[in-house]
Amino acid sequence: MSNIQNINIIPEPVLLNISSGNFILTEGTIIYSDPELCNLSESLKNLLLPATGFNLNLKETKEKTSIGKAISLKLTDSKKELGFEGYAIEVSSKNIDITAPYPAGIFYGIQTLRQLLPPEIDNNVKLEGIKWQIPCLKLKDFPRFSWRGYMLDEARYFHGKGTVKKLLDIMALLKLNKFHWHLTDDQGWRIEIKKYPKLIEIGSKREETQVGGFLSKKRDGIPHAGFYSQEDIKEIIEYAADRFIEIIPEIDLPGHTRAALASYPNLSCKGYPFRVSTHWGIHKDILCVGKEQVFEFIQNVLKEIIEIFPSKIVHIGGDEVLKGRWKECSDCQKRLEKEGLSDEKDLQTYFINRVSAYLKSLNINVICWNDVLDKNLEVNVICQYWIRHMTNIFKHIENGGHVIMTNYKYTYLDHSYSFTPLKMAYKFEPIPKNLEEKYHKQVLGLEAPMWCEFVPNLQRLEWQTFPRLIAFAETGWTPKNMKDYSSFQIRLKNFLRRLGFIGVNYANLREVKPNIFKGLFKVFTLVREQKGGI
Ligand code: ACM
Ligand code: ZN
Repeated sequence: MSNIQNINIIPEPVLLNISSGNFILTEGTIIYSDPELCNLSESLKNLLLPATGFNLNLKETKEKTSIGKAISLKLTDSKKELGFEGYAIEVSSKNIDITAPYPAGIFYGIQTLRQLLPPEIDNNVKLEGIKWQIPCLKLKDFPRFSWRGYMLDEARYFHGKGTVKKLLDIMALLKLNKFHWHLTDDQGWRIEIKKYPKLIEIGSKREETQVGGFLSKKRDGIPHAGFYSQEDIKEIIEYAADRFIEIIPEIDLPGHTRAALASYPNLSCKGYPFRVSTHWGIHKDILCVGKEQVFEFIQNVLKEIIEIFPSKIVHIGGDEVLKGRWKECSDCQKRLEKEGLSDEKDLQTYFINRVSAYLKSLNINVICWNDVLDKNLEVNVICQYWIRHMTNIFKHIENGGHVIMTNYKYTYLDHSYSFTPLKMAYKFEPIPKNLEEKYHKQVLGLEAPMWCEFVPNLQRLEWQTFPRLIAFAETGWTPKNMKDYSSFQIRLKNFLRRLGFIGVNYANLREVKPNIFKGLFKVFTLVREQKGGI
């Protein structure tokens, strides 16, 4: 474990050897880089500037040309075994060399370098009297999983560009690489679709909001609205790409669609007017799967989505679909008969397979929540596991399918710290127990969803997210046999100081470790709004 000599890296790197001596960063240090890494050398310079006040010189050249102190960023073919995201760092008293086979690795090397410096490096104004010192060492590092995700639900509350960019910054620091953006739900549609302007004119606004917990009848009486234009989205995609983060949009279908139905009621089974929902929970009215115009709508929406997002994956939800309306609807029943389907569960599979086939024809894969798993589901649907039915996950994997693990008891960031204390979050293991080793590769990794029913502002969002996201980041990157909660807790203290300099309202270590008394009330904290962080 690496908590020797103030080395406090999270996620814990794979191999670290410390030697004697230090590199001391000075105003005269030069950053050398391969020409194709000039964006990264520029971002390293910008990272080091505010707190140190050092405006470091950049040199685009393969080899160091001066005898002074240097930080070098170099791509190398000789370390292909480190993989797409791996990197190596060597620190001597004169040089810091960051090498990697691919640019992503260089980027992660820079994030580690950032964590090798005192946490004050993340202050946004110059600090006097700090020794910007790094111990001499050799380090090799690469991730355990390729999918290390964070999900943000902005359908329930719109948080906006500033919040998203701040979260992407911290994700990068934690070497998280997938931002799953839950952009549509019953309570709001948050992304401009040019062909369907009412999705924003109507769907992005609600009259008021349920407050006081899941069982509460209380409404706040305050209208809530917000959406991203396609230009906004492109700006955020670029911001994320600069941080080696892929954004996966989620358009939740065919349930969780009240905001869409309020905008275009003819997409429902009943066809009568709807309001954008002002309360939480699972809603009866969903997209009609009998009407062809619904598929036309979905294809047009998804066409715009994939034109904006460069990701080759789109999340189409599929969770919590109540089938009552389909049972009563003559169009849905006609569809069921025509397709030779046996029940409404089959109708859901038909829907997911049809949308998935459309996207496949455009070279896009889909992710769905594990609710969609059923005998006839196409195996190329990537499954995001959150609740129950673990046997279906095993079957999906044995059939050749891939999964992302977000077991709700461990990874849901909206849960109280009584329900999911930090230690429990840290103990989360993405590979299901008893899954044969030959299938482990089909578990792409893990994700921590930040559902926002009771998360109206940034302060609350940060309090729910941190420090648990820091624990998940370590699970996503560090080899299982190197994980150690005692070591993590020590390194975490340092990391939280860093978040303090960045200005993050994390939950403190007393709050994330509830006492036995609070623990007894954990089920209630699921149905009642929890206090804290506001
Ligand atoms: C979910 O929590 N409804 C995926
Ligand atoms: Zn219908």
